[in-house]
Amino acid sequence: MSLKLKVATLENVAEVLTLHYKYQVDSISEQDKQDGFITTAFTESHLTRLIEDENGLFIAIKNDKIVAYAMSASWQFWCQWPMFQYMVDNLDDSTLNQNRLTIDNSYQYGPVCVDKSVRGQGVFEEIFNFSLQNMAKRYPFMVTFINKINTRSYQAHTRKVQLNVINEFSFNNNQYFKLACNTH
Ligand SMILES: CC(C)(COP(=O)(O)OP(=O)(O)OC[C@H]1O[C@@H](n2cnc3c(N)ncnc32)[C@H](O)[C@@H]1OP(=O)(O)O)[C@@H](O)C(=O)NCCC(=O)NCCS
Repeated sequence: MSLKLKVATLENVAEVLTLHYKYQVDSISEQDKQDGFITTAFTESHLTRLIEDENGLFIAIKNDKIVAYAMSASWQFWCQWPMFQYMVDNLDDSTLNQNRLTIDNSYQYGPVCVDKSVRGQGVFEEIFNFSLQNMAKRYPFMVTFINKINTRSYQAHTRKVQLNVINEFSFNNNQYFKLACNTH
């Protein structure tokens, strides 16, 4: 499969939003929900800031179509949503291989989304690693979370790439794993 990976620019925003809302919790089909969904309802202005301020939107293109995205950004960017503010407030509740995680030495990866037409074909690993390599220039550690009911995402992130579960937490009646890794 010929897959092109790139850091998204503003002209990609509309197409990323179309992919996003196919798998966002409020608009996903009931049938697709069992393979995971994304909670946050991103807007054009969120993605514009993510691109312009963070260079943090990564996309995979196949046959001129965006088939996957991964977002990565500073904690300062994510704090506009209460869930991430909660994560920042509790960033010091766990370590990664005895390394302290701070808002300066770590960033938050995710959400990630792979269109169902290309799932299970290595696109997930490619977009994950592309995002990691780009963010490694800026941060030694990556932190993320996975809703415990999203077993597909948990399997992908713990078996297909090397993320470690460093803690668990609940927020808004949802149960999450907290995961992290070195970027190098
Ligand atoms: C999560 C996601 C990025 C993973 O990418 P993917 O291409 O589907 O991942 P893969 O298929 O390579 O790996 C998932 C593994 O879990 C397995 N799996 C699939 N459904 C599963 C389920 N319901 N429970 C447990 N494991 C499951 C798959 O079989 C696969 O393992 P295998 O290759 O050994 O058979 C993708 O499914 C997706 O975009 N889902 C919708 C959005 C989402 O949930 N994003 C993550 C939350 S932010």
